Amino acid sequence: MKYISYLIFFAFIAVLLFFLKNALEPKQEPVRILGSEMCNDCHGLQNMGDQKTPWKNSKHSGAYTVLFSAKAIDFNKANGLASPDKEEKCLKCHTTEFVLKGTEKSKSYNITEGVGCEGCHGAGSEYSPAEIMREESSFIRNGGVKGDEKTCLKCHNTKANKEKTLKDDACPFQETDFDYKTAFDKIKHPVSTELKNR
Ligand code: HEC
Ligand code: HEC
Ligand code: HEC
Ligand code: HEC
Repeated sequence: MKYISYLIFFAFIAVLLFFLKNALEPKQEPVRILGSEMCNDCHGLQNMGDQKTPWKNSKHSGAYTVLFSAKAIDFNKANGLASPDKEEKCLKCHTTEFVLKGTEKSKSYNITEGVGCEGCHGAGSEYSPAEIMREESSFIRNGGVKGDEKTCLKCHNTKANKEKTLKDDACPFQETDFDYKTAFDKIKHPVSTELKNR
């Protein structure tokens, strides 16, 4: 009888410790993709320089939609692939979530954004508070990516795809060589100079 009450006592302590440990340990939330709309709550503002509009007007915001075009559908049919919007081999360069494969997604993220802000700047749940983003070093420490030529080469190839076949590092539809300077000029989205000189 005595033995059983000891057992119950220790079991009780064990359960107590388990709950205590869980309550005390800081919860490590996994990094999540927020979606461009969340970024644009701030980055769509005029006094920020408005990075939303250049992105909206760039092909990146239509990178998912273009997978529903006849040329995309025909290519996949002819090559025995799943339909482009379901085919991971296409999605990996045409959507934020597949270029950041394995990263959790917030409800605010929507695949239809195509290649969103986080497709280049990294998943934003940790770095998105403004006080973190104002400091370049804290932005980077919290998973932010500034972006450079290497960022682009995850999806663009320096050489045009003459064979027009699907390659691991080239779209069947990349018809021209990729040059960082000219390409970045087409998608640049600087913050306002007032903000810079603050
Ligand atoms: C390695 C990354 C990558 C892969 C894989 C990829 N794409 Fe692309 N796709 C791109 C890039 C980059 C462009 C823009 C090319 C340019 O304009 O120079 C593009 C452009 C396109 C376009 C627009 C072409 C036009 O003329 O406007 C279509 C359609 C397309 N891709 C469909 C597909 C389909 C379908 C697949 C899968 C079979 C696929 N892509 C796989 C990166 C990729
Ligand atoms: C709460 C407002 C807010 C939100 C939300 C926000 N940002 Fe920012 N972001 C800022 C501010 C403020 C700066 C600093 C601008 C400056 O002073 O140069 C900044 C700076 C940046 C920079 C430059 C960082 C550096 O130090 O060079 C990038 C890149 C960036 N944001 C991307 C994003 C992305 C991507 C998202 C969405 C995941 C996002 N931001 C969400 C307010 C915000
Ligand atoms: C996650 C993949 C991905 C990354 C990273 C990426 N792009 Fe793209 N880019 C695309 C896709 C896909 C298209 C074509 C979308 C369409 O035609 O609808 C495209 C189209 C473009 C276009 C329009 C085509 C043209 O030549 O006029 C430019 C410019 C461009 N990207 C520049 C860049 C630059 C500069 C970088 C790096 C800072 C970059 N991209 C990074 C996937 C990517
Ligand atoms: C195709 C890749 C790509 C996409 C998509 C993209 N950016 Fe950028 N972004 C870059 C690159 C590259 C730079 C320049 C980094 C440098 O040279 O310092 C940059 C710079 C910035 C800066 C700093 C500008 C400055 O003047 O210091 C901010 C803020 C920013 N991006 C926010 C955004 C937001 C918000 C979105 C979505 C609406 C977005 N970016 C989408 C690649 C991208």
